Amino acid sequence: MRTLYLQFVVTSICIMIMSSIIAFGVSNAYYQIYLKPFNDQKITKMAKETASFYEKSPQNIDEYMKHAASLGYQIYLADGYKKGTFYGSPFHDTKLNDKVISSVLNGHEYHGILQFPKKWFITGFFDDVLANTIGVPIQAGKTRYAMFIRPDIEQQFGEMRIFFAQLLMFTICFSIILIFIGTRYVVKPIRMLTKATKKIAEGNYNIRLDVDRRDEIGTLSKNFSRMAESLERLEEMRQEFVSNVSHEIQSPLASIQGFSQALRSKQVTEQQYDHYLSIIEEESRRLSLLSKQLLMLASLDKEKDIWEKTKFDLADQMKQVLSATEWHWREKDLAMDINLPSTEIQGDKRLLHQVWMNLIYNSIKFTEAGGTIFISLHNEDQKHVHVIVADTGVGISEEDLPHIFDRYYKADKSRKREESGSGLGLSIVKKIIELHQGTMTVESEEGKGTRFEVILPYM
Ligand SMILES: Nc1ncnc2c1ncn2[C@@H]1O[C@H](COP(=O)(O)OP(=O)(O)OP(=O)(O)O)[C@@H](O)[C@H]1O
Ligand SMILES: [Mg+2]
Repeated sequence: MRTLYLQFVVTSICIMIMSSIIAFGVSNAYYQIYLKPFNDQKITKMAKETASFYEKSPQNIDEYMKHAASLGYQIYLADGYKKGTFYGSPFHDTKLNDKVISSVLNGHEYHGILQFPKKWFITGFFDDVLANTIGVPIQAGKTRYAMFIRPDIEQQFGEMRIFFAQLLMFTICFSIILIFIGTRYVVKPIRMLTKATKKIAEGNYNIRLDVDRRDEIGTLSKNFSRMAESLERLEEMRQEFVSNVSHEIQSPLASIQGFSQALRSKQVTEQQYDHYLSIIEEESRRLSLLSKQLLMLASLDKEKDIWEKTKFDLADQMKQVLSATEWHWREKDLAMDINLPSTEIQGDKRLLHQVWMNLIYNSIKFTEAGGTIFISLHNEDQKHVHVIVADTGVGISEEDLPHIFDRYYKADKSRKREESGSGLGLSIVKKIIELHQGTMTVESEEGKGTRFEVILPYM
């Protein structure tokens, strides 16, 4: 029952009623303050005219008053004995102080219209009571009368009153009808939006809102559609993420399971025993790395602003990474071409360590034994530092190159198991570089090698 639609309608009607009351009050005050003296003057002049015309050409006073009344006036004529006769439509109330009659008989004017009491919801203009008249003396031969006169509003403005009453009534009726119709127009998109939110809550993101408006509701609908689209994208991403993650978790778990079963069978040679154990170890390491990377990605996605800026020597950090991976590059007999002049920058030390670790480890992974890895650091201008990690490895094909920064993307699907990571490394690298307001480019040729260049601002 308490729908927005009804509330709107009721509020509008209440506003109409309130504004009518206020408008009446204001108009009434205007009449009381400004118009009443004019009205009083006008009727006084007319009363005096009526009296003087009679006095100039005397005739039967009764006939004269009847004529005057028929022109649209209400008249009371009191003689010296304070007995009176009414002409025209009867007064609503015929109370009048005797002193007033005496004073008029003594030649004074009575300004009942001007003195009529001010009341909030009664406009003196319409009040046809005897007190609300103009009184003037009138001499008929030897007799002096007191004539009290006011315009007969009913007679003078009768049709006008009906006209205005009708105007008002029709205005009110049509306003109410139009409020009902107009409100429907305003509320309709809100109803649509409510239905759409319900749909979204049920997991249905395919929402088309055809609200073609340029107002706030139009903006709201447009933003709502946009929100639905991004929710849809998010949902797709979530599903893709879940399926990727479960795949990444599933395969190491399956091999751990398989090899531990084989170990249990006790029909394995000493050599196989060692080999299986090392596979299990490697797979658990992969799982642990994967969970670390996922946590890292989640925290990078969520806490864009929470990273600690410190000042440190980039060359030192890269050398640390080199010694941490030393075992791997020595094992593959890779030549290291290194040019690392001391360079201080500001950034998150822990996150940047991840970046170099990934880039350098990728180069080691994807370079055949006997290859070379180049690592250099230089600053061409005073604002940026360039870090280059290049290798003479397998390279990346043209069609793979645009995708290597995508999550879970691994270019060579057929490569050896121990080389395969989760494919998250470069997406994490890219995020961290963006966080530092840096940029990153890659050039690669299949069979020749790959070159990554990271440009970081000093900050
Ligand atoms: N130096 C490189 N030489 C050749 N290919 C590379 C090189 N660096 C990255 N790639 C390709 O880009 C893909 C994505 O790299 P990324 O670092 O994201 O994943 P990963 O190294 O396979 O796994 P992770 O880093 O998560 O352990 C790699 O699988 C590889 O195919
Ligand atoms: Mg990697």
